Amino acid sequence: MAELQEVQITEEKPLLPGQTPEVAKTHSVETPYGSVTFTVYGTPKPKRPAILTYHDVGLNYKSCFQPLFQFGDMQEIIQNFVRVHVDAPGMEDGAPVFPVGYQYPSLDQLADMIPCILQYLNFSTIIGIGVGAGAYILSRYALNHQDSVEGLVLINIDPNAKGWMDWAAHKLTGLTSSISEMILGHLFSQEELSGNSELIQKYRNTITHAPNLENIVLYWNSYNNRRDLNFERGGDITLKCPVMLVVGDQAPHEDAVVECNSKLDPIQTSFLKMADSGGQPQLTQPGKLTEAIKYFLQGMGYMASSCMTRLSRSRTASLTSAASFDGNRSRSRTLSQSSESGTLPSGPPGHTMEVSC
Ligand code: BEZ
Repeated sequence: MAELQEVQITEEKPLLPGQTPEVAKTHSVETPYGSVTFTVYGTPKPKRPAILTYHDVGLNYKSCFQPLFQFGDMQEIIQNFVRVHVDAPGMEDGAPVFPVGYQYPSLDQLADMIPCILQYLNFSTIIGIGVGAGAYILSRYALNHQDSVEGLVLINIDPNAKGWMDWAAHKLTGLTSSISEMILGHLFSQEELSGNSELIQKYRNTITHAPNLENIVLYWNSYNNRRDLNFERGGDITLKCPVMLVVGDQAPHEDAVVECNSKLDPIQTSFLKMADSGGQPQLTQPGKLTEAIKYFLQGMGYMASSCMTRLSRSRTASLTSAASFDGNRSRSRTLSQSSESGTLPSGPPGHTMEVSC
């Protein structure tokens, strides 16, 4: 008898005919820690922050964010913002391999490169979207430059330095796995990796055969040597802007994101736990993430409901009533959502929500 197999379905909703991606312009700037490359899409919009993205280890801006930013429904959002996609040094397409002995910047230094980018572009404020190491970098930047960060979407953030137990596990894994498998284990869940879907095959192949694998390893080492962000609920070290924390259920960083949520200001933080999205929700669930980002921006006053699709407006209405049953804003709020009903949280940031899509 044929066995039932679990099939991972990746949402696909490409650009509509007539919708063309905007022209991109790639720049490099010199910083005290070396040069950094970034790509700008769109034109600056008056009185609006730029959306600035930072990718995870093993990826670059394209392999991390292209499926999300080229998703059909995302166009409604991004046409209102200029986008700056940063490539960590040595990760840009065609980057030469750094010479042996090159001192790769720490994650804190990578965060310190961001002001050089913004100064070059003459942009004063951003909404950051970061994944993994990129989420850490944007958080560090926000801690150091509170006034210039209007909001943060942090996917798979682990704000803690590695403890000795993590190091022991890391060393043990290193005895049996190649570095590219270790990086894949950081990006995807074990279930996804053993399922070996087309998506996994593509990313496994790209990372394993990356011509700049030595550079990727340097970024990986910086990630593993990160300092604790030391978030403290109610303390001085905290993110002051609206934050949306995102993690896939069964993603490798689920516990870290849950802990991070417990340390941030519940009034400013929303927590989105996405079912069936594996380790990289922006790759596997761009539609659900687009919708969540839309509500996040709307809560910040940037997406008037008149800009939203009819579908989104009806979803907003249905969730507003669902959200109101827990009136305690100081505790985590749990909202569940099924794929069929399609409801997602709405309203201003400041609701800590757990949403399974
Ligand atoms: C953008 O429109 O911002 C974008 C397009 C392609 C890849 C990444 C981002």
